[in-house]
Amino acid sequence: MRASHPTDRRADAAHPTGPPPAAPADRHGPCPADGFRPAAVDRDVSAAVGRVLGQVMAEHLDRARALDPLFAHDVADRVARFTLDGGKRLRSRLVWWAMRACGGRDDVAARAALRTGAALELIQTCALAHDDLMDGAATRRGRPALHASVAAQYRRTAPDGRAERLGEAAAVLAGDLALAWADDLIADTVVPEPGSRRVRELWRDMRTEMVAGQYLDVQGQATRSHAVPQAVRAATLKSALYSVERPMALGAALAGADPATTAALCAAGRCAGLAFQLRDDIDDLFADLDRTGKPPGGDLRNGKPTYVFTVARAWADAAGDLNALAVLDEAHGRADLPESALDPVRRVLVTTGALRAVEDRIGRLARCAVGQLRSARLEPTGGAELERLLLRVAGLPTSRPAAGPLSAAPVAETEESGR
Ligand code: IPE
Ligand code: IPE
Ligand code: MG
Ligand code: MG
Ligand code: MG
Repeated sequence: MRASHPTDRRADAAHPTGPPPAAPADRHGPCPADGFRPAAVDRDVSAAVGRVLGQVMAEHLDRARALDPLFAHDVADRVARFTLDGGKRLRSRLVWWAMRACGGRDDVAARAALRTGAALELIQTCALAHDDLMDGAATRRGRPALHASVAAQYRRTAPDGRAERLGEAAAVLAGDLALAWADDLIADTVVPEPGSRRVRELWRDMRTEMVAGQYLDVQGQATRSHAVPQAVRAATLKSALYSVERPMALGAALAGADPATTAALCAAGRCAGLAFQLRDDIDDLFADLDRTGKPPGGDLRNGKPTYVFTVARAWADAAGDLNALAVLDEAHGRADLPESALDPVRRVLVTTGALRAVEDRIGRLARCAVGQLRSARLEPTGGAELERLLLRVAGLPTSRPAAGPLSAAPVAETEESGR
């Protein structure tokens, strides 16, 4: 069960009142003596990451409160709670299981993997605080997005749009803070050799890739791009790399994996990572808030050139299907699009064959990911966990063996760009 969020308790409080909330670390309890024992962590990786985050957040919150109680209450506390409540903990679990699959088994590697995973959860807080601001998304993980939460807190005392402006500024600052805390955590983590330099390189590249991808995403939206290759490129940079491939590469580096094993994990992560974002794009119209924590239709109303949308548009165009084109173009980018107008768009995604094509591509990407994993010499338990996790990342059942012959061949990025 989730802990209460700042917004739940003081959504319209104009100013912090009463004593500051207890350090969130309390919810996770102290780090037990065997907190970094690999076999103990294996039993519940998310809980172990939560304990590390609990300790780290408590220290940061103490310093923030000493620095300034208002900043601590409005910004630092929100960063801590958002991170501690967490989402699926995908990235931190990938680091862990990649490290284990590559044979990491001592307490030093385990501690480094948990701290790296915790840092990735902070990167995720940064990414999501900024993403919801840029995407104008009011809801995240089933609750008010960070900027919306701050705006709600100040709506009475800062009228005429000033609360909204404050919310936006707070989300920028909260994202920056989360990024700084993530970097601090990595800088303060002892990484077993020979992986230390590789971890630094991966961390450096990952942060820039994510920013580049987010820029491509909003630039495509602003310029009304309908280019399929640009959609794939944005999905890879904004999501596949920092969500899946880089966490797996970090885990491999922490275990000191050899080049061949590292390359197989990276290839698997790249395939599964793209599948993850293609699934996320489909979910915008075909999954409900209970599952995603986000109301449907946000990408459509924003005019996002998602992969599924650009494929549908390209195919409607190629087929001369003017009705389908009209449905897509009238809905795309219409901020006030009513709920009832989503169904016609869903139907076009089905009738053009775009939805089927994206589902098929997700399936191929998942098989590619599993094939790559199976081509590597992995520790069996860790390898099996990693395989299950990658199927879950792609939104596919984990009990089902990957269908069809396993292929380690990379999937061409533009294969669905036309018929
Ligand atoms: C959401 O990532 C942002 C994307 C890259 C699509 P997740 O789906 O991993 O979000 P949480 O952390 O579980 O909430
Ligand atoms: C988010 O992509 C990517 C990052 C947060 C870097 P989306 O904008 O598609 O993610 P959601 O759909 O809001 O979770
Ligand atoms: Mg978004
Ligand atoms: Mg976005
Ligand atoms: Mg999305």
